[in-house]
Amino acid sequence: MALIEFQNVVKRFNGSAVLDGLSFTVEKGEVLCVVGPSGTGKSVTLKHLVRLLTPTSGRVVFDGIDVASCDDRTLESVRGRIGYLFQGGALLAWMTVAENVALPLEECTDLPDGEIARRVERALESVELTAAAEKYPAEISGGMQKRAGLARAIVRESDVVLYDEPTSGLDPVTSVTINGLIRKLNRTLDITSVVVTHDLQGALTIADRILLLKNGRAVICATPDDFVRSDNREVKEFLAAMKGETL
Ligand SMILES: Nc1ncnc2c1ncn2[C@@H]1O[C@H](COP(=O)(O)OP(=O)(O)O)[C@@H](O)[C@H]1O
Ligand SMILES: [Mg+2]
Repeated sequence: MALIEFQNVVKRFNGSAVLDGLSFTVEKGEVLCVVGPSGTGKSVTLKHLVRLLTPTSGRVVFDGIDVASCDDRTLESVRGRIGYLFQGGALLAWMTVAENVALPLEECTDLPDGEIARRVERALESVELTAAAEKYPAEISGGMQKRAGLARAIVRESDVVLYDEPTSGLDPVTSVTINGLIRKLNRTLDITSVVVTHDLQGALTIADRILLLKNGRAVICATPDDFVRSDNREVKEFLAAMKGETL
């Protein structure tokens, strides 16, 4: 059974359907990259997984649990198993890197301070940011800030991490570093990863499968090889548009 399953999900805002019969699965342990034009519902899709949004119809299933209809205690356990790097997820300027990374543990768990400190240390180590623990966001580079955001997303040591545009606003070299880290975290910590990205090159490098969203539906969900070789007209159009953008 897939770890995550979207079953014919429709999401309407004021009558207009942003998701319009979206179905796909995420297998345990894989990196699934979600690509597609801006405004097509990629962030909306992620939000359904932790019930920040609920479907108008259809089902979102996490490890056999219907996320939209489960009771609050079950929802808490689902949220505890899913880390989230929000789009543009900024660090709080008046807190150190370590304090920022500790936030999800301070707010959502009853762990003792010593255990929080140990987990923060482990998370910072995983993103190679130990030396910056006591620095403030303004004192570190954009790439380091993104790595701190990654550390904050993995600090609960959850099974799944959702990344919403983790490389937006970064230069190409730093983007490669962040993509490499996402893949490393997936391999070393066995984190199932859903990565929404505008960075097709990055997606082709790190994804086990790539999902193309368009008009609220899945155009294709395929391995990078099958994705670039697809005969599907919408996939070809997307690839051509991306090529134009990088020239
Ligand atoms: N809470 C909301 N209320 C109304 N409309 C929303 C809400 N969240 C997103 N939308 C709309 O849904 C569409 C898809 O948004 P989004 O998922 O953020 O796109 P993207 O693919 O760029 O991440 C956009 O038109 C956006 O305006
Ligand atoms: Mg978005």
